[in-house]
Amino acid sequence: MNSILVIDSAASGEASVSRGLVRAAVAALTAAAPARVVTRDLGTDPVPHLTEANLAGVRGTPATEAEQAARALSDQLIAELRAADTIVIGAPMYNFSIPTTLRAWFDHVLRAGETFRYTEAGPEGLLAGKRVIVIESRGGLYSEGPAQAIDFQEPYLRHLLGFMGLTDVTFVRAEKIGYGPEARAAAIAAATGTLRGLAETAAVAA
Ligand SMILES: Cc1cc2nc3c(=O)[nH]c(=O)nc-3n(C[C@H](O)[C@H](O)[C@H](O)COP(=O)(O)O)c2cc1C
Repeated sequence: MNSILVIDSAASGEASVSRGLVRAAVAALTAAAPARVVTRDLGTDPVPHLTEANLAGVRGTPATEAEQAARALSDQLIAELRAADTIVIGAPMYNFSIPTTLRAWFDHVLRAGETFRYTEAGPEGLLAGKRVIVIESRGGLYSEGPAQAIDFQEPYLRHLLGFMGLTDVTFVRAEKIGYGPEARAAAIAAATGTLRGLAETAAVAA
C-alpha cells in the first residue's frame, strides 16, 4: 500500500486555507488509490527551533539529553520522509516565505549523510523517487505581476526539497486569499479542482 506523509504548517487552525486544501488532496489521493496516511502537524505540534542547547543533536555529535532528544526527533522525521511515496505539504506564505515551524522541520530533516550527501561533483539529494505536492496559500498574488520578484516561498521550497533529491514537486497555489470572500472562495475552488486532477493523473500513472 502507498504511503502519504502530510505536513501541515498553518498556525490558523480550522480557518486555515492550506489545511482545508491538504485535506482535499489527501481525500482525492486516497479515493484514487488506498494509502496509509501519516500526519505531522507543525501548526499544533511544532518541532523545536535549533538552539545552542540542541544543535549538536542535528548537526554534530549528541551528548546532552537535549541533544539526544533532538537527534531522536530528527531521526523520526527523516524516517517519516523515507517511508513516504507521496508527501503533501501545506505551506502558507508568511512574510513572503514559509512559516518558521516549517523551517524548523527542514532544519531537522536536512542532514548530511541521511537526506543529502556531499560528493566531488557537489551535494547530492538522497530521497529521489518520491512525489511531492506543495499547497501554497497566500494573501496576495505572486504567480504573476509585480510581486513575483518577492516570492521567497516557492523558490525556497523548491530548492530545499530539491536539495534532498525531491525534484518531482507540484506546487498548487491558492492566491488572493486576502482579497475578500469571493476571491478566497474562487481560489479554494480552483485549487481543489487542480488537486482532484492531480490525484486522478497519479492513479492512472500508477
Ligand atoms: C504571520 C503571517 C504572515 C503573512 N505574510 C503574508 C505575506 O507575506 N504575503 C501574503 O500574501 N500573505 C501573507 N499572509 C497571509 C497568508 O498567506 C494567508 O492568510 C494564507 O491564507 C495563510 O494560510 P492559511 O489560511 O493556511 O493559514 C500572512 C499571514 C500571516 C498569519
